[in-house]
Amino acid sequence: MKRTVRLGTLCGEIRPCEVFAHVGCDHGHCSQSDLENGLCKRCYISDISRASLQKAEKLLSAYIESGTVQSFCCAGLEKVPRDADEVLIAGMGGEEMIAILREGYLPERLVLQPMKNTPKVRAFLLENGYAIVRDYLFYDGKFYDVVCAERRGDVRKYDERALQFGYDNLHSPSQDFLMYLRTEAEKCRARLAGGGAAAVRERLQLLTEVADEAQRNI
Ligand SMILES: C[S@@+](CC[C@H](N)C(=O)[O-])C[C@H]1O[C@@H](n2cnc3c(N)ncnc32)[C@H](O)[C@@H]1O
Repeated sequence: MKRTVRLGTLCGEIRPCEVFAHVGCDHGHCSQSDLENGLCKRCYISDISRASLQKAEKLLSAYIESGTVQSFCCAGLEKVPRDADEVLIAGMGGEEMIAILREGYLPERLVLQPMKNTPKVRAFLLENGYAIVRDYLFYDGKFYDVVCAERRGDVRKYDERALQFGYDNLHSPSQDFLMYLRTEAEKCRARLAGGGAAAVRERLQLLTEVADEAQRNI
């Protein structure tokens, strides 16, 4: 498998299941890792781009020949059979992920790595009967969020800050999260030095409060 911290982190969040689906699979490395580690019996891969899907089909050709993997060139979950019990969607915007789930179906377990609008993704999951069981940020050249949700998971109470920053970041903060807060605060200070608006000052205040809260929870 192609080794990056990001892919390693995502693959590490996949739980054993019957049928795993990777929407927007592109290279197919996560499905390969899942299959090699015996985490699923069957696997669906899909991508809206034929060229991207072909990369995954090439990598997984032996599994496709044996019928273990089925591939679908489609938008989101459009052609992906509904018996996938765990679905990974990573590397696209949060609003696009929400649209994919709305227009497709809501599987038993989700692993999501939105590139933006993560608070909207959290709110969507909670409004649609999911428990968010893992929700944290990690660093791999830039900061990434990962949100894992289960339909029958243990419910954790989300307040406004957890929606905005991620539950695990607040309750069991990592060094990566603390670095994220410092980085964001630096950006605010630079904007303020350039004559930034009241909204920037408010954001800096919020980041300072969250950093204090995170420090207390270490
Ligand atoms: C940045 S790549 C990420 C690939 C892989 N998921 C990862 O995280 O390494 C995004 C992939 O999602 C595909 N994609 C974007 N929007 C999509 C959609 N609505 N439905 C299916 N695939 C989509 C793109 O074609 C591309 O291959």
